[in-house]
Amino acid sequence: MKFKQITLFNVEKLTFKQGDVIYLQGDNGSGKSTLMKILAGLITPSEGQIISQGFAPKSWWQPDSLLGKAVYLHQHPYLFEGSVKYNLTYALNQLKTPASERNERMHQAINMAQLEDLLNHNASDLSGGERQRLAIARAWIIQPKLLMLDEPISNMDKQSQRLVLAMINQLKLDGTGLLISSHQICGLTALCQQHWHIKQRTIHTSMHVPTAETVHQTNTTELHYGTTD
Ligand SMILES: Nc1ncnc2c1ncn2[C@@H]1O[C@H](COP(=O)(O)OP(=O)(O)OP(=O)(O)O)[C@@H](O)[C@H]1O
Ligand SMILES: [Mg+2]
Repeated sequence: MKFKQITLFNVEKLTFKQGDVIYLQGDNGSGKSTLMKILAGLITPSEGQIISQGFAPKSWWQPDSLLGKAVYLHQHPYLFEGSVKYNLTYALNQLKTPASERNERMHQAINMAQLEDLLNHNASDLSGGERQRLAIARAWIIQPKLLMLDEPISNMDKQSQRLVLAMINQLKLDGTGLLISSHQICGLTALCQQHWHIKQRTIHTSMHVPTAETVHQTNTTELHYGTTD
């Protein structure tokens, strides 16, 4: 991937399976968000290609496109003008399932994100943590195969972090593939089974996810690894 002839990262081959839960690490500006946008089909790599079994990086209106299958969730998610309920209903209407199933899914989403008391609030009035919960619930309704969460718990208090963590764990249990970027080694990274690290303009992969202990033992200079406590 290049911007203005300058290589951001160069990867010979990077593979993952459906349902993999991956922690994406890298310094500011290393290309984490860019990688996620490439995998979501929002931008195309300068060279090379994305090959995916079952769906393809085609234009959104074509059958089997990436749209709705690989979803990128921005750190400050875009919400629609209108109520919390409207935001969820909009997502729900994208599903082609029977009304009874859709109602059930709506109910589950509200329950999981603990949005019962906020349903009629305007989405633009929500706090940062509430916005993130709504955005994840909305993404969950669409049933993506791969959900990419860009710094999903930064700037959140512990209670919001716990709620979002529980939602992400539920997504994992449901078999949704997850690619999660975080500057903190925390409960979020502990959910992950693989580690991708963007450094020296390439992506290093490992089946070993760093924990707070190993990081403190081996690399005390990287202060952004601090735990959430
Ligand atoms: N559309 C663009 N045009 C030019 N440069 C870009 C563009 N998008 C991103 N960049 C640059 O690419 C680099 C990587 O950006 P990216 O947002 O992917 O980093 P990141 O790892 O997500 O960083 P952070 O941890 O700060 O979120 C940055 O230097 C950024 O300025
Ligand atoms: Mg980023």
